[in-house]
Amino acid sequence: MMDMKIPRSVTIREVCPRDGFQSVKEFIPTEDKVKFIDTLAETGVSIMEVTSFVSPKAIPQMADAAEVMQEFNKKWKGKVESVVLIPNLRGAENALKTDPDWINFVLSASEAHNKANTRRTVEKSLEELRRVAAIKGDTKLCVSVATAFECPFDGAVDPEVVIKVLDAIFEIGVQGVTLADTIGTADPFEVTRTLSMVRGKYGDYPFYLHLHDTHGMAMVNTMAALHLGFNCFDSAAGGLGGCPFAPGAAGNAATEDLVNCLERMGVNTGVDLLKTISAARNMESYGLHVMSHLAASSIGRKDSSCCQG
Ligand code: COA
Ligand code: ZN
Repeated sequence: MMDMKIPRSVTIREVCPRDGFQSVKEFIPTEDKVKFIDTLAETGVSIMEVTSFVSPKAIPQMADAAEVMQEFNKKWKGKVESVVLIPNLRGAENALKTDPDWINFVLSASEAHNKANTRRTVEKSLEELRRVAAIKGDTKLCVSVATAFECPFDGAVDPEVVIKVLDAIFEIGVQGVTLADTIGTADPFEVTRTLSMVRGKYGDYPFYLHLHDTHGMAMVNTMAALHLGFNCFDSAAGGLGGCPFAPGAAGNAATEDLVNCLERMGVNTGVDLLKTISAARNMESYGLHVMSHLAASSIGRKDSSCCQG
């Protein structure tokens, strides 16, 4: 019988078009990005991080963010919620012109990663967040707290530091918050320790978890979070992903691995497993390096039951 503490359903936010594609060096032509996004939207996900409005010098792959959003809105507005990542006010201004459902402001709990990623102190990022909150209008604002468990430069991040950053974010006023294991090195005990404190402070606030799989920990960390009642998760089809400003950061929790694991345990995801595998395999055929256990093990194998769709 299912553990009563595990939620019966979860929300999966597909982040491959942002976190996945940003980690691909060679520019993916806009029309191919749009095609991949269409196949991902058809998997049944209710919310997707579509792109990011960042400096094209920092991440050339995201230079076509406005065109990608325009194409997304034509087909999916009102059907799949859109999220776009922003690192600063300039990103928010550009993003808001494209009518996303959510803007997702990124800052880090650790000073060193925040500097590497956004070239600011955490305090300066919080000031920038205040400015973003002031101009966002009706668009929902999420904040992604990177390095919420481990930092590539500073090591383990003290949960008290995370709580301090969260207090500041809630004081500014936001509609969503994500806690990210940006480099995918946290272990289930660390995750449990930080998330227990977060639960103790903020009750059942619906935090998203963004768990990378660099050390193969994404699924066990997901289990740790589920046991504490967390039920919103980021994942990327094919396991693509990684912050270019976090040395060693590799793949994400793969959507197909997550869906497979959760559905087998009787947890409803609303996402079609075969369609997700098929979307990941489609990306592989364009030369993108798919990292998930499930898609990689079934790629090219006509006899696999996973591949029939
Ligand atoms: N969109 C487009 N261009 C932007 C931008 C944005 N959101 N933010 C800054 N720029 C441009 C500026 O116009 C400037 O260009 P120029 O050299 O041609 O004049 C250049 O980037 C640097 O501007 P500056 O004001 O010094 O930038 P900044 O210090 O405020 O911030 C970052 C720079 C952090 C925003 C930029 O490095 C960035 O976008 N990094 C990407 C972060 C990211 O996506 N990480 C991975 C996801 S977590
Ligand atoms: Zn990530």
